[in-house]
Amino acid sequence: MTLTALLLAATAIGATPPMQQTQAQTAPAAAPTLTPRSDGVEVRAGATMMRVTAMTDGLIRVRVAKDGVYAEDASWAVSAELRRRKAAVTATPDGFTTASVRVRIGAGGAVTFETLDGRVISADAAAPRVDGTAFTIAKTLPIAEHVYGMGDKTQGLDRRGHGFVDWNTDAFGFSSADDPIYKSIPFFIGTGAGGASGGGSYGILLDNSYRTWFDFGHRDAETLSFGGPDGPIDYYFIAGPSIAEVTRRYADLTGHAPLAPKWALGYQQSRYSYGSADEVRQIAARLRADRVPTDVIWLDIGYQDRNRPFTTDAKTFPDLPKLATEMKADGIKLVAITDLHIAKVDSGYAPYQDGMKADAFIKNADGTPYVAPVWPGPSVFPDFTKTAARTWWGTQYKGFLDAGIAGFWNDMNEPAIFETPTKTMPLDTRHRIDSDDFASRVTDHREAHNVYGMLNTRATYDGLLKLRPDERPFVMTRASYAGGQRYAVTWTGDNSATWDHLKLSVQQIINLGLSGFGYSAADVSGFAGGPSPDLLTRWTEIGAFTPVFRNHSATGTPRVEPWVDGPDHLAIRRRFIEERYRLMPYFYALADQNSRLGDPIMRPVFYDYPSAMTASCDQSMAFTLGKSLLIAPPPKPESPQVYDVCLPAGGWYDYWTGQRVGTPEPAAAGPIQSATQAVPTARSFGDRVIETPRLDHLPVFVRAGTILPRQPLVQSTSETPTGPLTLDVYPGADCSGTLYEDDGVSLAYARGRYFRQAIRCEVVGNRMTISFAKPQGNHTPWWRSVAVTVHDWTGTGTATVKGKRVANTTDSAARTSTIVLKAPTTPTAIVIDRAGAASQ
Ligand code: GLC
Repeated sequence: MTLTALLLAATAIGATPPMQQTQAQTAPAAAPTLTPRSDGVEVRAGATMMRVTAMTDGLIRVRVAKDGVYAEDASWAVSAELRRRKAAVTATPDGFTTASVRVRIGAGGAVTFETLDGRVISADAAAPRVDGTAFTIAKTLPIAEHVYGMGDKTQGLDRRGHGFVDWNTDAFGFSSADDPIYKSIPFFIGTGAGGASGGGSYGILLDNSYRTWFDFGHRDAETLSFGGPDGPIDYYFIAGPSIAEVTRRYADLTGHAPLAPKWALGYQQSRYSYGSADEVRQIAARLRADRVPTDVIWLDIGYQDRNRPFTTDAKTFPDLPKLATEMKADGIKLVAITDLHIAKVDSGYAPYQDGMKADAFIKNADGTPYVAPVWPGPSVFPDFTKTAARTWWGTQYKGFLDAGIAGFWNDMNEPAIFETPTKTMPLDTRHRIDSDDFASRVTDHREAHNVYGMLNTRATYDGLLKLRPDERPFVMTRASYAGGQRYAVTWTGDNSATWDHLKLSVQQIINLGLSGFGYSAADVSGFAGGPSPDLLTRWTEIGAFTPVFRNHSATGTPRVEPWVDGPDHLAIRRRFIEERYRLMPYFYALADQNSRLGDPIMRPVFYDYPSAMTASCDQSMAFTLGKSLLIAPPPKPESPQVYDVCLPAGGWYDYWTGQRVGTPEPAAAGPIQSATQAVPTARSFGDRVIETPRLDHLPVFVRAGTILPRQPLVQSTSETPTGPLTLDVYPGADCSGTLYEDDGVSLAYARGRYFRQAIRCEVVGNRMTISFAKPQGNHTPWWRSVAVTVHDWTGTGTATVKGKRVANTTDSAARTSTIVLKAPTTPTAIVIDRAGAASQ
């Protein structure tokens, strides 16, 4: 469906912004009457009744009553425990202050959030507007403000100037402008007015599971508004001031993504569908023969008996446990799709018969089971808002877990329905809500639709945990809602094999990361269509630096496994997949950071470097992996055109050569000969680097001040690397790195069985000191020794570990100095001098 058609469909049920702007209200807004509470204020302004409360100093909840009645205080996104949190506030004549935010209530109940020194963070442009069950909240959108988040919506990185509808939609072959698509994450980050007068960035989560709409300066360039035809008027305002702080607080509010099994960070090979166990064996054998490191092969719907979830085709997959055992021996896990639609068959299909007995399915308005066609033909649909149905669903996984399947794929959970223009179930289908702190009641699909996919994954995640209480569940989902990161990783659905979609995928994954989903993927190299060899190669290179890295393609399209375009392309693709495996210690430390703090794994450059917001380069494809690596693909990925990369201040190194780029060091006179893999295409130019696109090269830069952990190459994360952990030290300010390791699969890390070690480095004159802190946790990592290589560090100086002289090797061409030492398990200082440097 085109955007226009979708908007028309949405308008038909009153789901788009009202045509008249809120400012155009005729009646003058009433002066508010405020009643202070210990945690905020009750507001009455004419017919408007609202409650503004502080949960923490930087987290304020705004609820507006409709017809004098507040919606029930319940949520699928924010736990009851969090919603009960109260921060003490100080009442003021027009509102209140917390320790960091001032809340002012104006005419009609318009809310302004300010810093304590009076800088506006976000201000209502008009009083909240209620029109029957529909509502509109309108805020000012300063000219310098940018907007991010909203999950994997299309239309570029910055949401400013665009309008969106949240209504989970099966969007096969979506274009880079189509909306809505699969997910509804009604959360955005506004960067504020900027400059000295701006109050910083903020976030807003509209916790309303009905269809909602968002307009970020689309209809009126300076108004940001959101609303919906129904559902609670209940939003959370999150103060920053930085984007990183907003992102972390949003993760605190809606839940952190649990640490995924380590193998989820490996390369994953998929296809709709590998049609038989033998084909899976052939794919695995070829991946191994071609030395393409791989952790996972996916089983799409083709492994099932007549597309019926929780079955296997006896002819083509006669012995799933045997297949899983063979794959395991080869270091490969199997992830199997388990769609939620349950085939309606009269006998011999336990999920249907048992589910009927358990009263687990959604009903029509007349109380009969709702039946509609999806992959297996006529199907019924679990009623995931009901606890008993979720529990029942969770038990379905026993057989596959026993068979050795390692992870599960929850697809089609918008929910997708075939043969209907709406692509989903009728709005009057009945869902029983019997869960959390919701009042037990029956609702219809309008309320349940946008949370349906998330609750599908919740049922899967909880079920897996119940069946294997000490294993990290791995679930991948297509649809979700705010907070869905607690249960599943995600991917961007049925994208297309075009350069445009490659670009879009980077922007989608970045925005997913800012919306709670630290782990996400896009089908490498596009699901629909077929990529050119160059597109598949480029997509593989970029995919190697994204949180979840899965090659997947649709039935009937050309094959896209890494080898399909011959040895030259394979060699490039393999080199990037290998690099990902070398970087595994860095990826895993980022996953640990994501689960503890909420920092996304893959980020916009401005996440850690706010000045990048105003950089003059085209940064529409640039991203960082953690704080230390900046990946700068061509902004026009299909074009051979030369482009500039803006490097944030502080100094950068070329990842591939280890050489300093950007600001040349005075000492580094003369041309630098690369001793390592790729010859750099960059010429130094202050903090701007000029790149000439070359298919076998992806520009990657390392922040000066990084200690980057890497490991010897393995073919699977289940293989223990041989040799030392390598630590590359790139001298610069605030020089640090983190090591993280655990057993990779169990929950023992949550009970202290992990290894986390902070490392710092400092340069004083010609002396570099690298300090290993005492490790935290009580897990012994695989490495016994570490090889520390300091870049841009030449001369014939001496090295000591804990004061004792040790041998170091210097490579004057590469400008490095390396020492190998026993892995420090107590606080340890390494000192490397470059005494001879001055004479060079
Ligand atoms: C949906 C999924 C796709 C999958 C297909 C068959 O289109 O988005 O990834 O391959 O269904 O299960």
